[in-house]
Amino acid sequence: MDDLIQLTRDSDIAIITINNPPVNALSPAVASGIAQAVAQVASDAAIRAAVLIGGGRNFVAGADIKEFGKMTSGQSQRGAGLNPLVLQIEDLPKPVVAAIHGSAFGGGLELAMACHYRVAAPTAQLGQPEVKLGIIPGAGGTQRLPRLVGIFKAVEMCAEGNPISAREAASLGLVDRLIDGDLLQGAMAFAREIAGKPAPKTRERNEKLGAPEQNAPIFAAAREKARTKQRGMPAPLAAVDAVEAVTTLPFDQGSQLEQELFRKCLFSDQSKALIHIFFSEREVAKIPDIPKDTRTLAVNSVAVVGAGTMGGGIAMVFANAGIPVLLKDTDQPALDRGLATIQKNYLSSVKRGRFTQQFVEERLQLIQPTLRYDDFAKVDMVVEAVFEGMAIKKVVFEQLDRVCKKGAILASNTSTLNIDEIASATPRPESVIGTHFFSPANVMRLLEIVRGKASSKEVIATCMQLSKKIGKVGVLVGNCRGFVGNRMFHQYGREAVFLVEEGSTPQAVDQALSNFGMALGPLATGDLAGLDIGWRIRKEYRHLEKPGVRQPFVNDRLCELGRYGQKTTAGWYKYDENRRAIPDPEVNEMVRKWAIEAGVPQHNLSPEEIVDRCIYALVNEGAHILEEGIALRAGDIDIIYVNGYGFPAYRGGPMWYADTVGLKKVHERICDFHRQYGELWKPAPLLARLASEGKTFSEFTKEHAVMA
Ligand code: 3HC
Ligand code: NAI
Repeated sequence: MDDLIQLTRDSDIAIITINNPPVNALSPAVASGIAQAVAQVASDAAIRAAVLIGGGRNFVAGADIKEFGKMTSGQSQRGAGLNPLVLQIEDLPKPVVAAIHGSAFGGGLELAMACHYRVAAPTAQLGQPEVKLGIIPGAGGTQRLPRLVGIFKAVEMCAEGNPISAREAASLGLVDRLIDGDLLQGAMAFAREIAGKPAPKTRERNEKLGAPEQNAPIFAAAREKARTKQRGMPAPLAAVDAVEAVTTLPFDQGSQLEQELFRKCLFSDQSKALIHIFFSEREVAKIPDIPKDTRTLAVNSVAVVGAGTMGGGIAMVFANAGIPVLLKDTDQPALDRGLATIQKNYLSSVKRGRFTQQFVEERLQLIQPTLRYDDFAKVDMVVEAVFEGMAIKKVVFEQLDRVCKKGAILASNTSTLNIDEIASATPRPESVIGTHFFSPANVMRLLEIVRGKASSKEVIATCMQLSKKIGKVGVLVGNCRGFVGNRMFHQYGREAVFLVEEGSTPQAVDQALSNFGMALGPLATGDLAGLDIGWRIRKEYRHLEKPGVRQPFVNDRLCELGRYGQKTTAGWYKYDENRRAIPDPEVNEMVRKWAIEAGVPQHNLSPEEIVDRCIYALVNEGAHILEEGIALRAGDIDIIYVNGYGFPAYRGGPMWYADTVGLKKVHERICDFHRQYGELWKPAPLLARLASEGKTFSEFTKEHAVMA
């Protein structure tokens, strides 16, 4: 036992404190420290009960996730490793009380359930989130949780991975007492009440397990839900199997099955990908040239310019975080339309049970509509979301410079324009930055934070910190056309159109990518965003196209016919009144005719080629982006794709996926495409180099996390 675990005494009660900052993860050293403390409690006749508590912000956030990588790469032979410890605690004849605050997640909850009692601060959260890492509980969680909360709730918690509040846990019987005020004192008082009494073992409690005829429909419904809501993921189904074992097998055999399923999941590619996403999501906050202690600016009030699709959503984001917002537009009808949309969105959140009416009313109070720049002098930050056009944005920034106080952050939500040029409209480019929200802004988690060449470190650090406060994953990206996400998506979407021109159908292309795991196929995504947006951009940038390089054209033809997608009830698909996509034979016929007339070679396209062409188009552009330093790390690109573009997290994002396929193989396939389909498939130099060196994007990232 070292500094990680402290064993102290208060007369006949022992206190075991876990001190492994930041989250008290159960590393091997922590587990063995607890085991030693428990052994001392067992052998000390003067101790009649013990309290197990976490120091710092949490009880225990789970097993140490870093250990999993060591296990799967053969560097550690430990196995799940926590089962001997939880059994040792449960078998102790003296009662142990887990005192829970912050999070008791994964192995943390398993540890608490092996204790004989649990008390908790009302703000604590308890959960088995393992499926989010592509695994299942591996220290008896699937076998003990049902014994405390019943089958229904246990299946839900283990298969979906969402935590519950301490209050709910108390109502279910997972927590024995809620402690207001000092947790340790409350836990000690509880321990004194039960000291000297028998220590009930969770694994021997069977009264909540229910009858087979009650349980069968629960398991069937859970499997059905897992197949639809966690499509393509085996871990949730494995979690259901493990919980089901509680109803068919004795504890020891159930635990053994859990172990087998746990290890199978742990060694899967999905788990490795999801663990990569877990760490990458935390890594994005780390910017090499902007240290953690960089001064940040207070953002206590915000103004949003433009009350359209994005501006309205962005105003909601700030209001939801409790930050007052001025929402400005040019005329009353535009402002009224913006506010009506905000109200409609909030109303639907109330209907779906996401927010209470009271919460919504409080948020609406925080959004103050205006037609003037009058109060802008007071705000700490402005987000501009007017029409996409350099001239209009420059005029807005000139005005912002006139009205905003010194030091206020001036952000643009532009999706394509050059941040440096926008910044040049002001004499304070250091205060200008891009905050590229995704649509719908109040729903999508991703926020690309675009670093201008003059953006100050304080402004960048503030926006990164603010992203967390407003519930977003902020990823710092460099300034180029389309930044990271849209620049890559452009290649992906274009390839999808080429595939349709060459003989596939919108349905076949979308189905192949949906089967790959994308939340929505590329053509359906185009219909959702509006095909006219891309059409307008293509017209604007046509002069930059290289002569002789193939460009898609059937998408423009659809727009010429007024087929803009969902908004006109017709695009690549037809849409019914519920906005359900219906394949449109007319589109298929038209496209075929146009393509043949234009001499596009027609051929059979397998789902495999569809996936490879679309996904490798992302990967090849991602490699350019990485080499240019537009993204800091391959993992940053992955986080952008998982959070902003519906890329399946269980494949780890496009760059991780390419690494798992093997860059040599990806490069060879891209070379084939280059030979067959021409110039646009020229392999990115970084990809070619890594492929020849037998390296991965992850390895490249470790050596070169540098931004342009
Ligand atoms: N293992 C290793 N490191 C962990 C960790 C874990 N279980 N949980 C968090 N961390 C690290 C993070 O990587 C981060 O590191 P960094 O500072 O170097 O970037 C640091 O702890 C702080 O984490 P967050 O930034 O996420 O801190 P928050 O305060 O925002 O959130 C939390 C805290 C809610 C506990 C969140 O970290 C979390 O959800 N953690 C993961 C919980 C989890 O998945 N547990 C299950 C693990 S699997 C398991 O237990 C298997 C068992 O059944 C055998
Ligand atoms: P929109 O057309 O829905 O809204 C623009 C709003 O700005 C309108 O209400 C208009 O009246 C107002 N406006 C125009 N000039 C103004 C001025 N000088 N002062 C105040 N208000 C003014 O446009 P949308 O879609 O909201 O786009 C806004 C910005 O967000 C654009 O830069 C766009 O590229 C970007 N963006 C759009 C996304 C989308 O999916 N729609 C996604 C991410 C970024």
